Amino acid sequence: MSLLITNGRVITATDDYVADVYCEDGTIAAIGRDLPSQQFQADHTIDASGKYVLPGGIDVHTHLNMPFGGTTSADDFESGTIAAAFGGTTTIVDFAIQYRGQTMRHALDDWRKRADGKAVIDYGFHMIITELEDAGLTEMDRMVRDEGITSFKLFMAYPGVFMVDDATIFRALRRTGDNGGLVCMHAENGGVIDELVKDALRKGQTAPKYHALTRPPTAEGEATGRALALAEMAGVPIYIVHLSAAHALDKVKQARDMGLPAYAETCPQYLFLSYDNYEEPGFDGAKYVMSPPLREKWHQDVLWKGIATNDLQVVSTDHCPFCMADQKVLGKDDFSKIPNGAPGIETRLTLVHNGGVRPGRISLNRFVEVCSTTPARMFGLFPRKGTVAVGSDADLVVFDPHRSATLGVKTLHMKVDYNPYEGTVVQGAPATVICGGQIVIDGDSFVGRKGGGRFLRRGPSLAPAGL
Ligand code: URP
Ligand code: ZN
Ligand code: ZN
Repeated sequence: MSLLITNGRVITATDDYVADVYCEDGTIAAIGRDLPSQQFQADHTIDASGKYVLPGGIDVHTHLNMPFGGTTSADDFESGTIAAAFGGTTTIVDFAIQYRGQTMRHALDDWRKRADGKAVIDYGFHMIITELEDAGLTEMDRMVRDEGITSFKLFMAYPGVFMVDDATIFRALRRTGDNGGLVCMHAENGGVIDELVKDALRKGQTAPKYHALTRPPTAEGEATGRALALAEMAGVPIYIVHLSAAHALDKVKQARDMGLPAYAETCPQYLFLSYDNYEEPGFDGAKYVMSPPLREKWHQDVLWKGIATNDLQVVSTDHCPFCMADQKVLGKDDFSKIPNGAPGIETRLTLVHNGGVRPGRISLNRFVEVCSTTPARMFGLFPRKGTVAVGSDADLVVFDPHRSATLGVKTLHMKVDYNPYEGTVVQGAPATVICGGQIVIDGDSFVGRKGGGRFLRRGPSLAPAGL
């Protein structure tokens, strides 16, 4: 199968030029101005005049079909990856969970079963570690060496579920120095938060907004500083996930200013939503119950500045959707029982373009860098993915900067009964999405194939070399 995309404006993290892109057998085979039609005869041609040709989005933080909070996230690997594709994302890195008493091998087999034959775009996994004895350390090595699971998420929050102590974190960090893995950290002080939650419930404070009020930004700042210090003592890089607060960004910035290999991602919800959403009437605040929680609005400007200055390197989604009707409602009388997470896999590119590029907060190149190129470099997928270059996978988005879209439950494809951005009109949206040289989204239609996505064995992160 061959594909020719003509006359598009090719945007990478560093380049911006008009060219034709010719794809053959799943990879980009040629790029050039006016590629001669006799030589580059394609089965299918797309006219991209007036549009951007971007490397496919890479979302390195998703939770599809994830058991959590007494239920399971609403999108499975089919619905979730279809929604991702509609949004211009062609690769995800989801999370397999090693529960206590279980091996990482078991976790990986379990998550492969959830995804294989269902995902419509390419996918890899991080491994969530909930305990780490000696056998676990050798398994970590095997995951990196043999399975392409080159990153590990650890939690400083959710006591009794995922939280591990500092010694475990330090052991995992040190091991990555030997095996080439990368630790991703959920940085919130879970012990303090638990006390605040108990206090609130004792006082009868049960509404959704108390989720945010019992998870103060200082709890994130403290844990972020501690995680960075542990990584410094272990002498390895670290990647902070879903950073939401200025307090945490300050710690990352300080570490980076000291020359430490400290990295962090934020998510659209922290750039576009705020604590005010918890004050919505009735139980609607539950839509925004996620951890870390939404912050006061002023944090948004600080995060945007962090993206512009590269103190934040990645924008991912932390897509973890739960329906209001039968899932969020589990916490109707007790905010601590509301499943934590929100949908976003479909709206990342369009939101960051509309709210980041259009008002001039970041350049088009930076947009591509934080949504595709750095995620690929950070998580061992570059240069196969994350750029538009000869030899790279033909994962491409023909992005129409003039196409407007109204975000909402009716217009989107995520399998969840609300949208945090309901009614928001954005300008700039994918027109055609290509994964592995196959068109998966053509305008408003999904034309891909269930199971068309491939499991990705990832290589080592480029973080030790500096990003
Ligand atoms: O609220 C969230 N973020 N849910 C997903 C699990 C996690 O901590 O990333
Ligand atoms: Zn987390
Ligand atoms: Zn998450």
